[in-house]
Amino acid sequence: MFVLGIQGSPRKKGNCDYLLTSFLKACESHGAVTQVIHPDKLDIQPCKELIVCEKKGFCPIQDEMEEMGYSLVKKADIVVLASPVFFYNVPAQVKGFIDRCQMFWGRKYKLKLRDPDAYHRQGFLLGVGASGGKRLFEGVELTATYFFDAISAENVGSLTYRNVEDAGDIIGRPGLLKEIQTAAAKLVEPVLNKKTLLFVSDKDACCSQMAAAFAKEAVKGRFKVLTAGKVAAARSDATMVKVMAEKNMDLKYQTPQSLEKVLTGLGREPDHVIFFGSKEAMPGMVNVIAEEWDIIKPRDNSLEAFQTLRDAIEVRVNQFIPSLLRSLG
Ligand SMILES: Cc1cc2nc3c(=O)[nH]c(=O)nc-3n(C[C@H](O)[C@H](O)[C@H](O)COP(=O)(O)O)c2cc1C
Repeated sequence: MFVLGIQGSPRKKGNCDYLLTSFLKACESHGAVTQVIHPDKLDIQPCKELIVCEKKGFCPIQDEMEEMGYSLVKKADIVVLASPVFFYNVPAQVKGFIDRCQMFWGRKYKLKLRDPDAYHRQGFLLGVGASGGKRLFEGVELTATYFFDAISAENVGSLTYRNVEDAGDIIGRPGLLKEIQTAAAKLVEPVLNKKTLLFVSDKDACCSQMAAAFAKEAVKGRFKVLTAGKVAAARSDATMVKVMAEKNMDLKYQTPQSLEKVLTGLGREPDHVIFFGSKEAMPGMVNVIAEEWDIIKPRDNSLEAFQTLRDAIEVRVNQFIPSLLRSLG
């Protein structure tokens, strides 16, 4: 599983840095893979309110947001936002990052596209501020709530600390590390312990992605649904993304993964694997239920051919899910 940390403070070795590093270390100790991004260090321009995202579903501003923002946010199982209070809200750099996530808001609310990972993704806030007022975190918490909603993450909680001013003030607070360990374990362990359904196709660019999206909607977060390719394509098939959007499913940021990488990341055997085609690529696993589904190749590259393929996969997945629920329960 992948945890993305957004380090919102521009200060080097400050309090957010310490909090986030400790939090992510705790996640790693439970088996999560983590990555930190610093909005302050990225080339991310503020939103210019061009409204292209609300009409066409993408942001035309060319900067690092696509690769270091949008892609990573959508890859994440858990997004941890660490932010100091600056004038009762997040720092401008974080606000700029969040404002650019209006692109996801536009896809979700204007274009009515559902992210199949919405059942699964979680958002968590870490906050620090210098004063001790009761309402100190209200602005940050409200902003974080709507940020998590835009990126289709469930807002699952926060740890906030008052009377933290100078760099390092947070270090050594009684009970801090224990509190972080407990919160991280509560977030990560249920995700890691979820039973896993894996769809494998040749390149993880089309059939596996479609099947996984339908399965994610059907199991509503009860299982972790993964996809992999015997080899991974550079990107998902654009026509596949288009025909899934016709079903109001947002697969734009689903990235093909190699089977090897997925199994390494999982750190254990998946519980159920479905192969589009032969399961000969399956490494020697003993306890896995594996089945083969026919490869249904689109007859050509036309939209109609992909629509036919999509509909066939939807029917197959919906027939299969009840038996999966009975066997993995
Ligand atoms: C521009 C600026 C604005 C701030 N505004 C507030 C504020 O409104 N309320 C508050 O309690 N602390 C405020 N602070 C203090 C920081 O929240 C505090 O020093 C925090 O520990 C910084 O975290 P860091 O070390 O991760 O950067 C502000 C600091 C700066 C630089």
